[in-house]
Amino acid sequence: MRIAVVGSGYVGLVAGACFADMGHDVILVDNDQGKLDGLKNGQVPIHEKFLSELLERHRGRNLTFSDDLGAAVEASAAIFIAVGTPPTETGHADLSYVESVARSISSAINGYKVIVEKSTVPVYTSEWIRKILRRNAAAPDAFDVASNPEFLREGTAVTDFFYPDRILVGADSDRCAAVLREIYAPLTDGTYYKRPDAIPQPERTQIPPPLIITSTKSAELIKHACNAFLAMKISFINAVASVCESVGANVQQVCQGIGTDSRIGPRFLNPGIGYGGSCFPKDLLAFRAVARECGYEFRLLDEVMRINEDQRHRFLRKVHNALWTLRGKRLGVLGLAFKGGTDDIRESPAIALVQNLVQEGCQITAYDPAARERAREVLNSSIEFASDAYEAAQGADALLILTEWDEFSSLDLNRLHQQLKYPIVIDGRNLYDPEVMAAHGFTYYSVGRPAVTAEGLPLEAGAQSRKASNS
Ligand code: UGA
Repeated sequence: MRIAVVGSGYVGLVAGACFADMGHDVILVDNDQGKLDGLKNGQVPIHEKFLSELLERHRGRNLTFSDDLGAAVEASAAIFIAVGTPPTETGHADLSYVESVARSISSAINGYKVIVEKSTVPVYTSEWIRKILRRNAAAPDAFDVASNPEFLREGTAVTDFFYPDRILVGADSDRCAAVLREIYAPLTDGTYYKRPDAIPQPERTQIPPPLIITSTKSAELIKHACNAFLAMKISFINAVASVCESVGANVQQVCQGIGTDSRIGPRFLNPGIGYGGSCFPKDLLAFRAVARECGYEFRLLDEVMRINEDQRHRFLRKVHNALWTLRGKRLGVLGLAFKGGTDDIRESPAIALVQNLVQEGCQITAYDPAARERAREVLNSSIEFASDAYEAAQGADALLILTEWDEFSSLDLNRLHQQLKYPIVIDGRNLYDPEVMAAHGFTYYSVGRPAVTAEGLPLEAGAQSRKASNS
């Protein structure tokens, strides 16, 4: 099928490349000429596994790039809107880009088109798109508006696209649903997975994925509710971790105990320094704002956000507890991205923590496998950048682990010990077993687990949190 994808940001670029790999003819539309030129010349603007491979495979063949939205609409049966919906000061999603695309689409309609929301948008957006098209003289039977939200995680976006838990289609007519069914048929009928060049199947995924049809409003709500629920799960376990710290329990054991309850499940129960990224923080604000507008005060979301914020402060207090005063202390930092596997630093708790520590007078040398350049744009010369984890640790009073990169969980601990001035590790992502760290001579602090000294002795139960609340 001929498909236009409007917006070559994270979602648009991944969806466009994946639709092309499923055999569709895709026109990726953007109004940023520089970005389009880069894409045409083989540049890949984001760090995402398999993406460059897919772009290479289809660029200039069944995946083309254009700034002519009108021509792309005329040529396509389905138009996916994947433009940005940044938060406004009130927490609402700014839908002006969506509106402007909808207006441009209306003047190019030359036959039945399905206009699909791919960006995360609040409930009622599909109705507004419909109104905008009608106001701009599109005939009512010339189009339908559908919602087809993505559940892609940065770092695994391409595999998430091909191996989703489900494909969600919000459509209010059979005609419209049929178009979306046809687009996803290579996945739902399993033919894509039989291809020798198919993107490999990750563990714990089932093929073919189910396709769920709902109303457009339900689909819009599902996307916001899903992200809010996942953020709630993270805040819940972070709150439990804080209680564990107070009583000397181990959150890892608690997670194992609650995660094996099949009604709860083990995923998204990793405590840490709080969630970040371009989705959860923005989507929680937007969901709360839309609920409020519809007459419901979603106070649970306030608490989820408060716990998330608090988690960073608790980590800072841990650094204080480990090092006493911070002015002039040298810290090695591992990780600046908002999570492992990506170069994205938007709303990264690691960046916020580094900024706090710099304000407190620390000298920081940081290493991130992918986010260095992006971090440099924000942190400028306030910190130094290392080219690997050991260089970041060299001569430091302590090492902080702030992002869950895989490579940080398998460091050579003897070498690390030699590099540090004092063998103190404060791990915001629980990448190591406290006993192993103690056996290697580290004083080791983590989240929701007893801190251990270099002699292998646990700090007194509750000592960390009592000290923290006294400070
Ligand atoms: C999230 C959702 O997981 C996707 O399903 C969704 O499609 C996407 O938002 C979106 O709306 O576009 P993403 O923001 O890429 O994906 O990242 P996640 O893997 O969800 O992680 C978000 C944050 O939570 C990260 O800072 C991560 O470190 C943190 N996290 C995650 C935890 O602290 N603990 C966990 O157990 C899991």
